Amino acid sequence: MSNSFQLNDGNAIPAIGLGTWPLKGQSCVRAVESGIATGYTLIDSAMNYDNEAAVGEGIRRSKVEREELFVASKLPGRWHQKELALSAIEESLLRMRLDYLDLYLIHWPNPKRGEFASAWEGLVEARERGLVRSVGVCNFTPDLLDTVIQETGVVPAVNQIEVFPYWSKPEIREYHQQHGILTEGWSPLGRGGDLLEHAEVAAVAGHHGVTSAQVILRWAHQHSVVPLPKSANPERQRSNLDIFSFSLSDREMSVLDQLEGSRADIAPSDPHNYEQL
Ligand code: A2P
Repeated sequence: MSNSFQLNDGNAIPAIGLGTWPLKGQSCVRAVESGIATGYTLIDSAMNYDNEAAVGEGIRRSKVEREELFVASKLPGRWHQKELALSAIEESLLRMRLDYLDLYLIHWPNPKRGEFASAWEGLVEARERGLVRSVGVCNFTPDLLDTVIQETGVVPAVNQIEVFPYWSKPEIREYHQQHGILTEGWSPLGRGGDLLEHAEVAAVAGHHGVTSAQVILRWAHQHSVVPLPKSANPERQRSNLDIFSFSLSDREMSVLDQLEGSRADIAPSDPHNYEQL
């Protein structure tokens, strides 16, 4: 697989994927079909996006062989127990009408409920049963990763976190590197916010003759992050995927790195307090 990273379980993951939140229904089917036609092989869904059936339909309409694709979904908090997690994965497969998933992730740790380690055992069991090929988590902080690893002995293959230049989370990425965990990035373009209009990002983009979105996605790639930009627009899907024909210099990477914390008026969700069921 070209433009991919190796996971700690030996599987490969594409270096960029198509985000699907908040797409639903036929617009999601069309976006997934056009995304795959454009060249995306990693499609990121979640049970809580309420679009697994639409993602599965887009995959079937694409006519691309299942083995060519890398399909991911996520476990909601209300299924955080080993047996429940196994049922949820079966349910995701039924909704998507697929035989297996390439990646299944715990969507949010919901640490106050204290059940994510049991949920994690369900994901690991699902991998052993062949329902999923790789398992991981989302929105875990290093202390929560320590807990899951200590309680189960199994290191997640992936932690999907919200990462873009305002919130580049170097301490979490450093922990991932030390433990062989791949970082996926959700909302990599900054939740459609003002990052795409930032003058310094635009200047770098102008220098390379690319868009600001391409610069931001390339920045993620050079930090070994797999970005998951969502776009329903075929032209933006195409340009977002085109991040392998140019590279950012150390100076340009540092310009983007220095945007860290420059938006004090917005804050990322705190996984210790945020609850999503
Ligand atoms: P659209 O689907 O109309 O393209 P994120 O993935 O960071 O959450 O950002 C998603 C948002 O950014 C969506 O609103 C999406 O809208 C928009 N978007 C995606 N790609 C681009 C792009 N290349 N330029 C501008 N906006 C984009």
